[in-house]
Amino acid sequence: MPDRFDLPAGFRWGVSTASFQIEGATEEDGRGASIWDVFAARPGAVRDGHTGAVACDHYHRYPEDIALMQGLGLDGYRFSIAWPRVQPTGAGAVNPAGLAFYDRLVDALLAAGITPLPTLFHWDLPQGLEDRGGWLNRDTAHRFAEYAAVVADRLGDRVPAWITLNEPFVHMVYGYALGIHAPGRTLMLDALPAAHHQLLGHGLAAAALSERGLAVMIANNLTPVWSASSSDADLAAAQAYDALHNRLFTDPLLLGRYPDLSAYGVGPDLGGAVRPGDLELIAATPLDGLGVNYYNPTRIAAPTDPGLPFTEAPIEGVPRTAFDWPVVPDGLRELLTTFHTRYGTALPPVTITENGCSTTATLDDQPRIDYLAGHLDALAAAVADGVDVRGYYTWSLMDNLEWAEGLTQRFGLVHVDFTTQRRTPKASFAWYRQLIAAHRARHAR
Ligand code: BGC
Ligand code: BGC
Repeated sequence: MPDRFDLPAGFRWGVSTASFQIEGATEEDGRGASIWDVFAARPGAVRDGHTGAVACDHYHRYPEDIALMQGLGLDGYRFSIAWPRVQPTGAGAVNPAGLAFYDRLVDALLAAGITPLPTLFHWDLPQGLEDRGGWLNRDTAHRFAEYAAVVADRLGDRVPAWITLNEPFVHMVYGYALGIHAPGRTLMLDALPAAHHQLLGHGLAAAALSERGLAVMIANNLTPVWSASSSDADLAAAQAYDALHNRLFTDPLLLGRYPDLSAYGVGPDLGGAVRPGDLELIAATPLDGLGVNYYNPTRIAAPTDPGLPFTEAPIEGVPRTAFDWPVVPDGLRELLTTFHTRYGTALPPVTITENGCSTTATLDDQPRIDYLAGHLDALAAAVADGVDVRGYYTWSLMDNLEWAEGLTQRFGLVHVDFTTQRRTPKASFAWYRQLIAAHRARHAR
């Protein structure tokens, strides 16, 4: 394949996964319950009643999965560590068998020439902490930092860079405001303390990582926000949405302040959660990299009912994924150049930590190849525009448990038969392998 994606030498190629979505073995080797085990057991919470009990059985099959990654020729693998494996109740006693699993995983990755890029929290909070309020409880931020230190002490000798949180926006909105994800709370705007406490947890964990000489990143779900029209009302709504989705989780890290949420009737203390010194702490450890998870833009219009200062409007006239998400590759370029302009020199180097799509195509997944190719073109354009992008980790290595959608939305380069656990590489797998090889060959010349 010609290397049509003009990305810099040293650009890093990877794939992403998350513990609850692939591991299974939820009751093995002393793992405690997570909020996702409890949530998935609720009738109707997850499509078709799927649970994480087996998922991709990666806990037992990780050598096979690493062999697949080695076949792709990856530089890096982004995975997440299940906190309840390490600390079954989220506090205190460490479970040696849980830590030992990640130790084996890291060694096997390194033996395959793949750099591990772990995420410390990808939504599977120990249920023991949820029983005390989860991320609504400020104490969870301190527990998170303690857990981060335990894991870093064990793996930090072999793992150079770490992601603290995955998509605190989606976790707050889906988990605490709308109740679509665990822990299934429906607090609407009263969920905002869960944003602050996650960010505080980031700040405390970042300090622990940095004290150990480790690089610190966060993976945010970001979206370019399109105003449905140029009317003042639509523009104001788009600005309010941008503040909630993008700025709330980036301004405090890069600028040391929260965005203006007055459109929500919320003051700068986010409903009383912010204490003196918190913002300084959140920004104290500079990010070594910003992880960007990009799937699609969001189109926003003036509110139709009073609860929120915006309403989501459909994006028409573009292809859609199996999830019905609009496919707008150029949105990635728009997002990155907007951030480059917005934050200037405060913007650290970017890594795309997730990007991909679900399709109904089984092995001949041309729609995924088209999706990835379009987004890599957009990424190359953003780099040409001057954005410093260091790597691209596609979501996902293999079909897995897509949260509330259960096993129905398939995002993998590798097909998984969930009855037999047989893995079969799709057409996109071969395409990605060739793309990585072509990029290397070009820069080796
Ligand atoms: C967004 C995705 C996000 C997902 C969470 C969608 O509406 O477009 O970016 O990851 O919700 O499941
Ligand atoms: C999440 C992943 C998820 C993917 C597709 C992101 O919101 O980080 O866990 O599977 O998007 O929805």
